[in-house]
Amino acid sequence: MRFHFTITITAIFLSATSSLARKCGNTQVPVELLEQAIRFNKQDVNRQTWGVGVSVQESTHESNRYNLPKTQAINLYMHNIYINQTAEGAYISEEDLQKQWRAMNDHYASTGISFVLKNITHTENKSWALAIRNGTTELKMKQSLRMGGYEDLNLYFRVLGRGFFGYCSFPGDYAPNSEGFWQDGCDILYTTYPDGPQTNYNEGKTATHETGHWLGLFHTFQGGCRGGDLIDDTPAEETATHGCPATKDTCRGDMWPGLDPIHNYMDYSYDSCMTEFTPGQAVRIYQSWDRYRNPQTRGPPTESQN
Ligand SMILES: *[C@@H]1O[C@H](CO)[C@@H](O)[C@H](O)[C@H]1NC(C)=O
Ligand SMILES: *[C@@H]1O[C@H](CO)[C@@H](O)[C@H](O)[C@H]1NC(C)=O
Ligand SMILES: *[C@@H]1O[C@H](CO)[C@@H](O)[C@H](O)[C@H]1NC(C)=O
Ligand SMILES: *[C@@H]1O[C@H](CO)[C@@H](O)[C@H](O)[C@H]1NC(C)=O
Ligand SMILES: [Zn+2]
Repeated sequence: MRFHFTITITAIFLSATSSLARKCGNTQVPVELLEQAIRFNKQDVNRQTWGVGVSVQESTHESNRYNLPKTQAINLYMHNIYINQTAEGAYISEEDLQKQWRAMNDHYASTGISFVLKNITHTENKSWALAIRNGTTELKMKQSLRMGGYEDLNLYFRVLGRGFFGYCSFPGDYAPNSEGFWQDGCDILYTTYPDGPQTNYNEGKTATHETGHWLGLFHTFQGGCRGGDLIDDTPAEETATHGCPATKDTCRGDMWPGLDPIHNYMDYSYDSCMTEFTPGQAVRIYQSWDRYRNPQTRGPPTESQN
């Protein structure tokens, strides 16, 4: 009897913890962006344009390990929407939000992207903290809190619900001066900041992963072996990675060289396991930036933008 009792408790425990795996809302890539990514991918063939792979020596700029000819500072606005001023109530101190900002700069250093923290806001509003994705309550919250233009990043740290660790708008989801524009930005689960309460996911890498989508990156397992993230130097991957396996190779054979990119920020691994963006991803970030967000170079809105 006692034996049976123990098994039952273990089963409950396992099902409770497994629900805490990373889950991101950006699993569907809009068709327009996918088509644009295919065009970007063709340009990648001529990497010289971007300076990647031209020089084998390490860049003298510590901030730009890949010798990309570009760096880009992006304005960052951080918002914490909480229920009450306790950890359970989703409150994050200014100090912890600053830690999150510094962590993002560390994670993006190899790409030459950096974030300039412009403002932090704290708002007590239970319905905003719990608002579901794309709903009118969320829109109201963002219309009230969002700062800067389409080239500026707004992160909303709040409860989210439905098991989401985060989600973002992709570049081009909304036109810069549209009604929907206010929704541009990323929503992040409030427990994931550095040294925060989200076990295995508390090095601030959820915000780094989500911001990757805002900058135009897809999941490394997007579309499985036959689909892909349309970036040449991230090996194909059939499934999202959970935890931090010693090795994983879900796409095998001559067509798919390389092991799964389990250490990539755009996979689903534990924070401790995520350590890199590839040079190809850095190139894609700048391609997307110039096409969609850079006020000097961005193109006209596409048909589907609202
Ligand atoms: C704060 O909010 C959390 C989450 O709703 C709740 O569990 C907790 O009891 C609240 N604490 C106070 C002091 O109101
Ligand atoms: C941040 O934004 C708030 C609200 O607009 C404003 O009152 C405050 O002065 C800003 N802080 C900084 C440091 O710009
Ligand atoms: C809180 O959210 C509700 C629902 O959107 C809104 O009506 C209200 O004005 C908000 N309160 C504050 C203080 O922002
Ligand atoms: C939310 O809106 C974005 C942008 O239009 C869209 O890509 C996404 O699929 C929507 N998600 C949901 C759950 O409605
Ligand atoms: Zn994601």
